[in-house]
Amino acid sequence: MITASTPDSASPLATSSGVPHTLAARYRAEFPIFERCVYLNSCSLGALSRRSRARVNEYLDLWDSRGASAWYETWWAALAELRDRYGALIHARQGSIALHPNVSGALGVVASTLDYTHRPRVIVTSLDFPTIGYQWMAKAREGVEVVVLESPDGIGVPLEMYERAVDDRTALIATSHVFFTSGAIQDVPALAGIAHRAGALCLVDGYQAAGQLPVDVRALDVDFYLSGGLKWLLGGTGVAFLYARPELAPTLHPSVTGWFAHREQFRFDSRALELHDDARRLEAGTPPLMPVYAQLGGLDVLEEIGIPAVRAATAALTEDLIALATAAGLAPKVASHAEHRSAIVMLPSPDPAGDVRRLADAGFIVDARPGHVRVSPYFYNVPDDHRALLECLTDGR
Ligand SMILES: Cc1ncc(COP(=O)(O)O)c(C=O)c1O
Repeated sequence: MITASTPDSASPLATSSGVPHTLAARYRAEFPIFERCVYLNSCSLGALSRRSRARVNEYLDLWDSRGASAWYETWWAALAELRDRYGALIHARQGSIALHPNVSGALGVVASTLDYTHRPRVIVTSLDFPTIGYQWMAKAREGVEVVVLESPDGIGVPLEMYERAVDDRTALIATSHVFFTSGAIQDVPALAGIAHRAGALCLVDGYQAAGQLPVDVRALDVDFYLSGGLKWLLGGTGVAFLYARPELAPTLHPSVTGWFAHREQFRFDSRALELHDDARRLEAGTPPLMPVYAQLGGLDVLEEIGIPAVRAATAALTEDLIALATAAGLAPKVASHAEHRSAIVMLPSPDPAGDVRRLADAGFIVDARPGHVRVSPYFYNVPDDHRALLECLTDGR
C-alpha cells in the first residue's frame, strides 16, 4: 500500500510533470482520505472534507441538544441557505432551486409536469446516465416514447443527430452536460436552441459538471438543470437539486408532489393543494438534513476556491493524464479537443474490475466501467497521483 504525501504547503511547486499543484498544496490536508490512499474517483463520489464532517457533527449536536426545536431555530434556515448557494453556484435567479434527495426523484417530478398529448417524445442519448431515460420509459403506458440517440463513437453525440430527432412531437431533450461515460462536455446552448426552435423544452443532467466546470444556467438557456452532492460538489449522498427556469416554474403543475411544495405548508391544509410560485413547487417531502449539512461543508471549500480555479487546476491534471496515458499506449477514450474534455478519463482495459481491484490493493482508488478503468482527478490531486497510477496499471499488463 502506498501512502500519498501532502504536497509542500509552503510553495506551489511544479511536480515532475510541470503542472503546478497550488490548490492541492492548500487543500489536500482538508481531505483525510489522502492519508490512506491516492483518491482518483471524484466522478463517483467526491472525497469527504474535514469541513463536511464538522458540519455533520454540528447537525448531530443540534439534534441532540435541541431536538425538534432545531427546525425552527436553525434547520429551516439551512435549507434556504442551501437552495441559495446551489443557485449562486449555477448563476440561477433566487427562487429557482428545488431540493431533492437524489436526481431520480427530481426527474420524476419534472416528468409529472409535462403534457405528452401532442408531444409524446423525449430525446435522450445512449451516453446519458440511465436514470434519465428511465423516468420516461416508465411512462410508456401513457404513450410516452423515448428516443435514444446512439453515440457513434462512445464519446459524444453530434448536434446533427439531435437536429434530426427533434420535431413538433418532441416534449423534451433530456441529456447530460458532461457524459459520465466519456467526460465529454456537450454544447448545451446549441441543444437548448434545437429544443426551443421546435417548441420543446431542454433538461440537462449536470451531475458530472457542476463543481468541476463553471455553470451559468442563463447562458446555457436550459429549462431544467440538475445536480447534487455526490460527486464534484463534495456533499456526499442524499442531496440533489433541480433548477427550473423562473419564467417556466409557475406554469408547472406536478402530479408527483408533497407538502414542501405547498406555499403555506404549516397551514396543514388537507383540503387544498396551493403550490409555491417558485421552484419550490417542485419539491416533495422533508429533505434529509444530515446530507444538507455535509453539502454546506463541501460548498464552503468550493466557494473559497472558486469554480474557475477548480476548472483550471482540473483541466491541467486531465491533460497531463491523457498525454501520459497516450504515451504509454493506453489510447484514452476522450473527446478529441481539450475544450470538450472534463476530468473523467476512460482508459481501455481488458479486465476493468480486475484492474480496479489490483489498483485498490496498491492504494489507488479508481472505478470500473464496461471496457474501461475510469480515472477522475480533482483539485486535490497532483500529477504524481496519476503518474504513479499509470505505472501501476501498466506494470501489471
Ligand atoms: C450523470 C449522472 N446522473 C445521475 C446520477 C445519479 O442519480 P441519482 O441521484 O438519482 O442516484 C449519476 C451517478 O450516480 C450520474 O453520474
